[in-house]
Amino acid sequence: MSYQLLKGKRGIITGALDSSSIAWKVAQRAHEEGAQFTLTNAPIAMRMGEIHKLAEATGSKIIPADATNVDDITTLYQESMQVMGGKIDFVLHSIGMSVNIRKNVPYTALNYEYFNKGIDVSALSFHKMLAVAHKLDALNTHASVVALSYIAAQRAYPFYTDMADIKAMLESIARTFGYHYGKQKQVRINTVSQSPTRTVAGSGIKGFDAFFEFAQAQSPLGNASAESCADFCVALFSDLTRMVTMQNLYHDGGYSSTGVSQQQLDLIQHT
Ligand SMILES: NC(=O)c1ccc[n+]([C@@H]2O[C@H](COP(=O)([O-])OP(=O)(O)OC[C@H]3O[C@@H](n4cnc5c(N)ncnc54)[C@H](O)[C@@H]3O)[C@@H](O)[C@H]2O)c1
Repeated sequence: MSYQLLKGKRGIITGALDSSSIAWKVAQRAHEEGAQFTLTNAPIAMRMGEIHKLAEATGSKIIPADATNVDDITTLYQESMQVMGGKIDFVLHSIGMSVNIRKNVPYTALNYEYFNKGIDVSALSFHKMLAVAHKLDALNTHASVVALSYIAAQRAYPFYTDMADIKAMLESIARTFGYHYGKQKQVRINTVSQSPTRTVAGSGIKGFDAFFEFAQAQSPLGNASAESCADFCVALFSDLTRMVTMQNLYHDGGYSSTGVSQQQLDLIQHT
C-alpha cells in the first residue's frame, strides 16, 4: 500500500547490490511512496550489473562512488542535486564489509590492516557522507539520514568480530553528527539496528544460518524482514518522524528486549 509519504522528496540510496540487499527493498519502497532518488554503490559492485534493473524499475540514475573516497562522495551529491533539481531530503547508508570476517580471522587475533579497511568502509564512510553533505550544504532542512546497524554494537556477539566495534563507531557518529547537524539545520540522523537478514553481507558471516534461526525463536514477532526494514526506513525519511534524531532504533521483532523465549527453553528441554 502506498501512502505517498515521500512525495516530492529527493534521496540518495547506497548499498543496493542485488535483490536481497536491504537497500534494494528500501529503494523499491521509497519509489512506491513517491520519492525520486539516485542509486550508488562501489564501482566494483557495478560490474555485477544487477543495480541497473533496480534503476530501470525506479527511474533512478546510478552514480558510482566508493564510499571511502571523499571526491567520489562529493561528485555523488553534486550530480544527485543536478539530476533531481534540488537539495537532498533523505540518505540511506547501507554499507558494510569486514575483511576479517570474510577471511575468518578470530577477534582475539585481528589483522589490523583489515580492521582499518573495515572501519573505513563501514563507519568512516558514514562520517564522510555527512561531512561532504555538510560542506556542500546539500541537505534540506529537516532532511533525514539513516544508517543500518546491528545489536553487536551494544552486546557481545562473538561471530561478529571487528564489525561489532565498527558498528559501535557508526552508532556514535550518528549521535555526534546528529547533534551538530540538528542544531544547525534540523537534520535528523539515526541508525536502525536490524534483525539478521539473508543478504550477501549477512550470509558472509560464519554460522549465520544457525544464528538466524536462534534470533527467529528469540523474537516475539520473529526476525524483521528486509521488506519491513524498508517500511521503517521510509517512515524515518518521512515528515512523520521529524523529532526523532541521534537514536539507535531497534528493528528486530522484540529480540533486543527479550531475555529468553519459551521457544528457546523448550528446545533445550527437548534435546
Ligand atoms: N544482513 C544482515 O543480517 C544485517 C543485519 C543488520 C545490519 N545490516 C547492515 O545492513 C547494511 C546493508 O547490508 P546488507 O545486509 O543489505 O548486505 P549487502 O551485501 O547487500 O550490502 C552491503 C553493500 O555495501 C556495499 N559496499 C561495500 N564496500 C563499499 C564501498 N567501499 N563503497 C560503497 N559501497 C560499498 C556493497 O557493494 C553492498 O552493496 C550493512 O551496513 C550491514 O552491516 C545487515
